[in-house]
Amino acid sequence: MALEDLLRYLLALPRGPLLLLLPLLIPIYKLIRALADPLRTVPGPTVARFTRLWKLRAFYRGDFEKTNIALHRKYGKIVRIAPGEYSIDDPSAAKVIYGHGNNFVKAPWYYAWGSVDPHAADLFSDLDPARHAIQRRKYASAFSMTALLQMEQYVDGCTELLRRRFSEFAASGERVDVAHWLQCYAFDVVGELTVGKRFGFLDSGEDISGIIEAINSYLRYGAHVGIYRRLHPLLSRVNQFLAKGKEGGFAFIAVFTQRQIDERLYSGKETGRQDFLTRFLGLQAQDPEKFTWADVMAGCTTNIGAGSDTTSISLSSVVYNLWRHPECLKKLREELDGKVDGPVSFRDAQEFPYLQAVLKEALRVHPATGLPLVRVVPRGGAMLAGRFFKEGTVVGINSWVAHNNKVSFGADADGFRPERWLESKEKSMFMDRNFFAFGMGSRTCIGKHISLMEMSKVMPMIVQNFDFEFEGPWTTKNHWFVAQKFRCRVLLRRAQDPSGTLLG
Ligand code: HEM
Repeated sequence: MALEDLLRYLLALPRGPLLLLLPLLIPIYKLIRALADPLRTVPGPTVARFTRLWKLRAFYRGDFEKTNIALHRKYGKIVRIAPGEYSIDDPSAAKVIYGHGNNFVKAPWYYAWGSVDPHAADLFSDLDPARHAIQRRKYASAFSMTALLQMEQYVDGCTELLRRRFSEFAASGERVDVAHWLQCYAFDVVGELTVGKRFGFLDSGEDISGIIEAINSYLRYGAHVGIYRRLHPLLSRVNQFLAKGKEGGFAFIAVFTQRQIDERLYSGKETGRQDFLTRFLGLQAQDPEKFTWADVMAGCTTNIGAGSDTTSISLSSVVYNLWRHPECLKKLREELDGKVDGPVSFRDAQEFPYLQAVLKEALRVHPATGLPLVRVVPRGGAMLAGRFFKEGTVVGINSWVAHNNKVSFGADADGFRPERWLESKEKSMFMDRNFFAFGMGSRTCIGKHISLMEMSKVMPMIVQNFDFEFEGPWTTKNHWFVAQKFRCRVLLRRAQDPSGTLLG
C-alpha cells in the first residue's frame, strides 16, 4: 500500500480511535517514510533518520563544525543529518548546489533569521530568489570596490585606537580576552562605515547598549528555531515578551540601528562622509519608490548584524594561528618590516603576498560560519556526489567540511600553512574555486571586501607592534558563527635578532 493510501485510510477512521492511536501512528509513519526513502542507504546517525531532534541537539552543543567533519570522515561524501536533509562533502557538488542559475534556493531554515513576514525579509534571510536578486542589485553600488576605497580612511581611526588599547594592556600586564577586543574593533569599524561614527566599544570595552548580547541571542535563536521554522511566528513573540518590554534579538538590532540613523538624520549636521548611510540616503532620495526607507534601514541593520562578529572571528583566527606558528609570524614580519610605517592602504596590502596568504589561510582553517549553508533541490531533482536527490530534498555544505577536503586543499588540509597559497598560480586558483569562507554563488557574502580590507589594514599594525602570551588553548562556540574565547597577556613586540629568534 502506498504511503498516501495508508494515510487516507487512517484519516477515514473515526476520530476517537484515531486519537488513541496517534502516539503509535507518528513513529509508524516515520518508520515507513524512512524505509520508503530512495536515499535510505545514505548513512548517518540512526536517530537523524527519523527526527530533526538529532540535529537540534547537535546544533545546541555548539560544536557542529567538528561533528560535521567527523561524520564525513566516518560515512563519506553524503551524510544524513535530519529526515530529508543531507550534508555533502564534494567540491563538484558545490558547483551544482551553489552555481548561478541552478535554482537551488535557500532552505526554510533561513526563515527564522528574518522578519516573520516573508515579504519583509532582509538580504540574508530572503527565501525568494527573484526578490533577493532585485534587493541585491539595489545595494550593489554601495558595496562596490570604488565605494569601499572611498570609505577606507574611516578604518584608520579605529586601528589607531586598538593600538592604544593594546599598548595600555602591555603596560599594565593584565590578561585580556583578545577575541573580545577584536570584536570591539570590528563593531566600531562597522559603525564608522555604516552610520559614520564609532559605537564606542573600543573606548570602554563594554557591550554598548547590549548589542553584542542581542546579536548572540539572535544567532542562537536563528540556528535552533530554523530547524522548526513553523514555530518562528510564535517564538519570536515569546522572545519579545521575555525581553520584558524591551525588543529582543533581531528586533533589538533593528531598534539600535534606527537610533543610530535617527541621531544622524536629526543632528542637522552635514557630515560630508561617504559612508553606507550617506549612500543609502542618496539612493533613497534619487528614487524613493525603488530604494525605500525600509531598504535604508535593512541595509544598515544587516551591516551591523552580519559584519562585526564575522570579521572579528576571522581576525581572532589570524592572531591565534600566527602566534601558535612562530615560523609564520617570523616570515610575515620579515615581509612587512621596513616596508610598512603607519596605516597601510588596502591597495598596498595586496603587494604583500605572505600577508594575503596568512589572511586566507586563517579564513580557511577557521571560517566564521559553522553550519551547513542549506539549499532546496529544485524541480526535476539533481545528481550530487554520485547520488540522485529528488526535488524538495534539503542539501548543504558546511564551510568547515569544504575546507577540510583533502582533494581541494591537500593532504595537510587540517593544518595552518599559509605557504599552500603561494606554491603555484594553478594550485592557488584551484583552491580559490573551492574556498568557502564567504559562501558561493548568488548568495555569496556581499561584505567580503569590507572584511578583507579591515583585516589587511589592522593585521600589519598588530604584527609589527605586539606579541601575545596565551593563557591556554582557545574555546569555541558554534551557533552559526564559530566564536572563540582566548585570554592573553599583550606584550610590546620584543626585539628580534637577525636569525628571527625573539629576544627578551
Ligand atoms: C570575514 C568576514 C565575513 C565572513 C566570513 C562572512 C561570511 C558569509 C557567508 C558564508 C555568507 C553566505 C551565507 C549563506 O549562504 O547562508 C555571507 C552572506 C552575507 N554576508 Fe557575510 N561574511 C563576512 C563579512 C560580512 C560583512 C562585513 C558584511 C556587511 C557589512 C556581510 C554581510 C553579508 C550579507 C548581507 C550576506 C547575505 C548575502 C545574500 O544572501 O545576498 N558579511 N557572509
